[in-house]
Amino acid sequence: MQDAKEEIKSRLAVEDVVGQYVELKRAGRTLKGHSPWGVDKTPSFMVSPEKGIWHDFSANKGGDIFTFVMEVEGISFREAMEKLAAQAGVDLSKYHGGDSAVTKRKLRAKEALTLATKYYQACLVRSKDARDYVFYKRHMVRKTIEEFKIGYSPASGKALLEVLKKRGFSERELDDAGLLNRFKTDLFKGRMMVPFIDTTGNIIGFTARILDKGEPKYLNTPETILFNKSRFIFGLHNAKESIRRNGFVVIVEGNMDVISSHQAGVKEAVATSGTAMTEQHLKSLSNLTSDIRLAYDGDAAGIKATERAIMLAGDLGIDLTVISNYHGAKDPDELIQKDPKLWQAAIEERVPAVDWLLNKYEENLNLRLAPDKKKYSDVALKLLSYVKDEIERASYEEKVAKKLGVEVEILREKGDRLNKKLEQSASRRHFKKPKTELKSDNLKKLEDSLLALKIFGGIVKTDIPFDLPEDESKIDELELVFNREHEGINALDYEKEAAELMKRYEMELNKQKIAELNEKLASLDEDSDEYLETLKDIADLQKT
Ligand code: UTP
Ligand code: MN
Repeated sequence: MQDAKEEIKSRLAVEDVVGQYVELKRAGRTLKGHSPWGVDKTPSFMVSPEKGIWHDFSANKGGDIFTFVMEVEGISFREAMEKLAAQAGVDLSKYHGGDSAVTKRKLRAKEALTLATKYYQACLVRSKDARDYVFYKRHMVRKTIEEFKIGYSPASGKALLEVLKKRGFSERELDDAGLLNRFKTDLFKGRMMVPFIDTTGNIIGFTARILDKGEPKYLNTPETILFNKSRFIFGLHNAKESIRRNGFVVIVEGNMDVISSHQAGVKEAVATSGTAMTEQHLKSLSNLTSDIRLAYDGDAAGIKATERAIMLAGDLGIDLTVISNYHGAKDPDELIQKDPKLWQAAIEERVPAVDWLLNKYEENLNLRLAPDKKKYSDVALKLLSYVKDEIERASYEEKVAKKLGVEVEILREKGDRLNKKLEQSASRRHFKKPKTELKSDNLKKLEDSLLALKIFGGIVKTDIPFDLPEDESKIDELELVFNREHEGINALDYEKEAAELMKRYEMELNKQKIAELNEKLASLDEDSDEYLETLKDIADLQKT
C-alpha cells in the first residue's frame, strides 16, 4: 500500500487536492486560504507545494493530501486512499499483493456485498409484493429507489447463498460480509433491502425491513470487518454534497426518514442507524458543518438522545438545534407523506437544543410547587454544566432562575455544589474525555490486535513490544479479538500479519506525534527558529 500511496502523491499536487475545498492564493513560496473548519478572520490555512504539505493554524492540524481528505471528509485512511486513487487514475487493485490478510478479506466482503445489492435490486423488479410495498406503501419514486439502491431479498432461504457460491464466494467470505445467519444460510429473507453505503460509495451492509407486520421490524447487518455501527452514518454518502453546500445537517432517527427526506428535497438528512449517537458520529459530521439540527421524536428517548448530543458536543464548537414541529406526525417520514412542504418548513423552525430541553423538563412539573422547583433545578443545572461558553451559560442561568423565582446567585451556588459532587463521581469523568482520545483509541485497538496475535498466534519472529496482561478477563477479551480478527487467516500467515500490524502501529504512533507537534506549532512565533525546526520535524515524520 505504501507504493500506491507514493504513486498517488506523485500524480496529485497538494494545491489541487486542497483547492477543491479551499480557495487558495499564492503568497511567496506557499499558498494561503481560509480554514475549511472554522471561522478565521484572516487566512490561516497554508499549503506548501514544494513539500506537499498543508497546515491549518486555526484548527491546529496539518499533513499531506491523505490526512487532508480524511479530515475534511471525515473518512478513514482507506476511504481517502480510494477517493484519491480515483482522482489520480491509480488502479488500487494492482497494489493489493502486499496487503494484509484483513485487507484482502475486506475486499472480498465488499465484492460480495456489491453483488448481493445487484441481486436484491433484480429481485425487487421481479416481486410484485415487494414492488407494491416500495412504491405504494412507502411512496418511493424510481429515482429514489435507484439512488439508495433499494432491493428485495427473496423468502426462499438460500437464494443469495447459491448465487454467490456460483460466483466463487466461500462460506467464510459471505460470513465476513455479514450475509449469513447462524445456520449458514441467507440472513435476509423476504425483506426490503436498504444498503449501508459508506462515504466512498462502498456497500458495507444492509438494513432490511419486513414488508408486513412482524418481528423484528428491521434486521441489520451485525458488526463485521466492514460495518462498525458506532461510526457509520446512514445517508451521508448521498447527503455530504448538500451538507457542505448548504452548511447544515439534519439528523433524523430512522433510516426511512432519511430516504423520505431526500425524496422531499431535503438532502441534508442523515441517521445514526438505530443506535445512539457516538462521539465519532458527531465528529465526522462536525467536519462538514457546525450547524447540526436534531430531528428526534419528542419522547423520552428523544430527550435522552438530545442530552447525549449536548454532552458530546463539548469542544467541537457545534451549534446544536432541535427541529420539533411535526404537526402531529410521528416522524419526519409521516410528516412528508402528509405534505413535503411541511418538512421543508420544519427544518427552518428550529430552537437551540438547550432551550428545547429546558422546556421539555418543565412539561410534567408544576413550577409553583417547591419540590418541583428542586427537581427542575436538578436537571437544568446538570444540563447547563455542559454549556461551555460563559456568556451562554450565564444567560441560561438567568432564564432558569427567573422561572424558579429565585436569585441567580442561589442557583449558581447549587450548581457549584452539584458540580463538585459530580466531579468526584466516575460518571462525570466518563463524559469528560480528553481531546486526543480518538487517536489513542486507534492505537489501543492495534495494540490489542497485536497482543492477541502474540498470545494466540504463537508469534516468534516479529517483535511485539507489549507485555502480556496479567488480568484473566483481559486475556479472555484478547481471545475474542483473536477469533474475530485473525482466526480466518492461515496460521502460516500469522507472522506476516503481525509484521503488517506492527507497521500500522508505528504509522499510527507517528500520526499522534505529528498531531502533538502541530499543536506546539500553533503556539510558536512564525519567525522563530523553533517554528522552522518544528515544521521540519513534522515534515520528517511525514516522510517515514
Ligand atoms: P422506528 O420503529 O421508529 O422505525 O425505529 P421507523 O424508522 O419509523 O420505521 P418504519 O417507518 O416503520 O419503517 C427507529 C429506528 O430504529 C431502528 C431502525 O434503524 C429504525 O429506523 N430499528 C427499529 C431497528 O434497528 N430494528 C427494529 O426492529 C426497529
Ligand atoms: Mn417511520
